Amino acid sequence: MRLLATGRALRAGSGRWSIASCRGRTLVPPSHLQYTAGVGLRYSSSTSAWTNDAVIERTKSAPTNQQRRLTTSAQQTITIGGYPYPADEWTNTPETILSHVGRGLYLDENHPLTITRRLIESQFPGPVYGNYVEQNPVVSTAQNFDVLGFPPDHPGRSRTDTYYVNRDTVLRTHTSAHQQAYFKRMNQNGKTHPEEVGYTVVADVYRRDAIDRSHYPVFHQMEGARLWKRPKTDPLRYSAQTSAAIMEDVKKIPVHDMVVDDPNPTIHPERNPLQAEHHSAEEVEAIAAHLKRSLERMVLKIFSEASKAADGSSSPKQDPLKVRWVEAYFPFTSPSWELEVFWQGDWLEILGCGVIKQDLLINSDVPDRVGWAFGLGLERIAMLLFNIPDIRLFWSRDERFLSQFKAGKITRFEPFSKYPACYKDVAFWLPSSAATGAGAPGGVMPFHENDIMEIVRDVAGNTAEDVKLVDEFTHPKTGRKSMCYRINYRSLERTLTNKETNELHEKVRTRLVEKLGVELR
Ligand code: DAH
Repeated sequence: MRLLATGRALRAGSGRWSIASCRGRTLVPPSHLQYTAGVGLRYSSSTSAWTNDAVIERTKSAPTNQQRRLTTSAQQTITIGGYPYPADEWTNTPETILSHVGRGLYLDENHPLTITRRLIESQFPGPVYGNYVEQNPVVSTAQNFDVLGFPPDHPGRSRTDTYYVNRDTVLRTHTSAHQQAYFKRMNQNGKTHPEEVGYTVVADVYRRDAIDRSHYPVFHQMEGARLWKRPKTDPLRYSAQTSAAIMEDVKKIPVHDMVVDDPNPTIHPERNPLQAEHHSAEEVEAIAAHLKRSLERMVLKIFSEASKAADGSSSPKQDPLKVRWVEAYFPFTSPSWELEVFWQGDWLEILGCGVIKQDLLINSDVPDRVGWAFGLGLERIAMLLFNIPDIRLFWSRDERFLSQFKAGKITRFEPFSKYPACYKDVAFWLPSSAATGAGAPGGVMPFHENDIMEIVRDVAGNTAEDVKLVDEFTHPKTGRKSMCYRINYRSLERTLTNKETNELHEKVRTRLVEKLGVELR
């Protein structure tokens, strides 16, 4: 099942299948904790200047390519952003992925991802919201999973889905990894910036996943949250006052006339429960009202810009915008929702959100606040805003791509050319010991589709456009399983020669045998 709220949602219970084999290498210094505990760069919208925010200094000068490169030394270390991390048997982050670290696409004002980021930030302005970016993707497993309440056996923790730097350290799989730091910081800044009670943060996130035109192992998310203070002692006694104060803020958000389908009650005892120990239903109604109106307004802004851009082009006329709220589950919110938009004939998941788990706020130095949070994937929004057909294009350094976009403008991408596709199949028998199915992180699991994706990506990089399972069967007598994958090799920038695709494909075949122990057919 593919979950797309934020590019790929990290809901609990997402039924993905299994755990990777472990490939030994890499490691982390105690320093990573100090490096990742802080919060990011602040963007000042009035001047378009980047200023270093005071709280915790953590922005280093941009690392050189040399520093960024994975260095497997005699002591088995991996260097990311100039910092060495100890490798261990959990390490599964290849050089091809590390080469994306520090590229900072969301800092280039004329890049479609930054233009999208700015558009969304404009709906969450200061002084209530601070708008931030987080440049260092290395976080602890505690930040990425534990403090957010991910259970130990959540599939998102597996090495088939997540890039581990080592056992305790990952490349963040979502911007929620920074929630705790931002809440802590809100507490620290309570005296100096009491008016800043919300934030947005943009960052690059990393997930092992399929290869196709809308999935790339590195993508970008924006996370946002908004908190309100309650009395420190016995807050539920004052819940009427708290709710009234929140409703006052709801009234300040301009109303809109978009069609919103919201059929479910805010709270449902089984499907979308109240955190009864901490919140009153009245408070949750108020928080949900604020959350929904804020996010509807943001979506309306994005999609009216998208329609305007499409109107100027040859695309068919747009229907009036329709959105719907769908009940959801995330380990760190309750109740939770996804917001979907009806766009060009399909319901499209745009974001995940909910009422923040109070335990998370308690563990983040803001026990006396309540609030909401959301997370969304920037690529999927940018792809429809700019009509960008292939997610790999965001990483292009080709001027024919880059020169098409200007800060503050939503324009339709004009494909500069389409180079020929080259399809090649690879069929193999899985090793007889191999199985597919769910497993615990760290457990033994010889085969996962993402391992195939990783091999193709390692060999072919961005020339692999798409990898699909086209055939699969189990031999009736031997019980062995056979699979056939079709790889589409196509460069975005030039025509590949037959010789080079053959060589790439041959390498993929060899690696499949070496790394996964398959038998080619
Ligand atoms: N982190 C989630 C994901 O990657 C998205 C998300 C959902 C973020 C709900 C939130 C939230 O802050 O409240 O799928």
